[in-house]
Amino acid sequence: MSIAKKEYKRITVKTLVDMKAKGEKISMLTAYDYTMAKIVDGAGVDVILVGDSASNVMAGHETTLPITLDQMIYHASSVVRAIDRALVVVDLPFGTYQSDPKEALRSAIRIMKESGGHAVKLEGGKEIKDSIKRILNAGIPVMGHLGLTPQSIYKFGTYTVRAKEEEEAQRLKDDAIMLEKGGCFAIVLEKIPAALAKEVADSVSIPIIGIGAGDGVDGQVLVLHDMLGMTHEFNPRFLRRYMNLFEDMTTAIGQYVKDVKSEDFPNSTEQY
Ligand code: KIV
Repeated sequence: MSIAKKEYKRITVKTLVDMKAKGEKISMLTAYDYTMAKIVDGAGVDVILVGDSASNVMAGHETTLPITLDQMIYHASSVVRAIDRALVVVDLPFGTYQSDPKEALRSAIRIMKESGGHAVKLEGGKEIKDSIKRILNAGIPVMGHLGLTPQSIYKFGTYTVRAKEEEEAQRLKDDAIMLEKGGCFAIVLEKIPAALAKEVADSVSIPIIGIGAGDGVDGQVLVLHDMLGMTHEFNPRFLRRYMNLFEDMTTAIGQYVKDVKSEDFPNSTEQY
């Protein structure tokens, strides 16, 4: 039995609300598999998001739309098996909650039962209010997602900054208040002006987690493969790369190829 494991204090949705009240910033990163999730959790990240960005990062799709509920459950259950401390939030994928609240609830229940995740995330505001209510009524915690919502990319047409105009900014502020009143425990704000994100964070008591939403919010989220520099075509201003794993991995793998070809690997100590 691991004593060290017992010392870990699990992060809950309540921990996050308390962190906001205390002014402690929340760290969130994506993960989609066991090995990466183990590292992310061990490094002390508070929230692991099994994002539908798996559709891009893991499967190579251009958008997040193709990923299925079964695929999200596969990724989420791999992540859940790895974690000791972080809260695991799982995206409901496109097409599994927009059509009617009963379907939304069925999808959320499948995520919770089959993956062991701790909460779900849904993109959108008042248009999905009834779905959110249904899910919450079943005791499943919900994280909202406003601003640039990638599942609506074909409506927006581009991945540029959202809510720069007053009308859209006002709609976003109203949606954030609606999500808080409706019972969401946190909201992701993606790619909106920093001043607007701060205004939203100051107007609600639930945590606001930003991605490209500036420094006035309660926490930050990035896609793991982007911040580790494994992806290299995607270069938005908000992305800080902490490593250049694309280069490091290419060099290491290139060296392995050379070693195999030159018969340097395996050497006499690397065999039985
Ligand atoms: O799917 C995802 O990775 C996300 C983050 C960008 C917030 O929703």
